[in-house]
Amino acid sequence: MSEEIKISPSADKRTRYEELIPQVRSLVAGETDVIANLSNIASALKYGMDFFWVGFYLVKNNELVLGPFQGPVACTRIAEGKGVCGTVMKTGESIIVPDVDSFPGHIACSSDSRSEIVLPAKKDGKVILVLDVDSAFPDHFDETDREYLDKIISLVENFYIE
Ligand code: SME
Repeated sequence: MSEEIKISPSADKRTRYEELIPQVRSLVAGETDVIANLSNIASALKYGMDFFWVGFYLVKNNELVLGPFQGPVACTRIAEGKGVCGTVMKTGESIIVPDVDSFPGHIACSSDSRSEIVLPAKKDGKVILVLDVDSAFPDHFDETDREYLDKIISLVENFYIE
């Protein structure tokens, strides 16, 4: 397995995701350790797609606890229903936030984050973790991001064992 992610730097978003997803798939293939896989996924997404912050919050005792991530230090615990991540945990639906200042209750881990997308991963219909991706640019995320990050979520749901 190659441990280097190669993405065409000037390609459009869809092309970059198309290049990235198979590489992420082979990165986690054959490895069963959840923390190892989530860590590599966070890194592949952050550096492959040039995001500001990429990380996982894991559901533990009915709250979210910071898991593997890449980027500046972040808040460690988020209650169900709080912020974007806690809302996704509660509703089980992904959310795109074009402007973090306009999301009521948004939790600002870094003032440099301007927009955000959060997606849930589920096992037996229950949210087990959320994937949070932040951008330093406003209005950075759209349905293309949701489509491809959902593929990452499917991968996670396949190897995640509690
Ligand atoms: N903004 C998130 C908190 C996590 S940080 O962005 C890494 C939220 O409102 O849930």
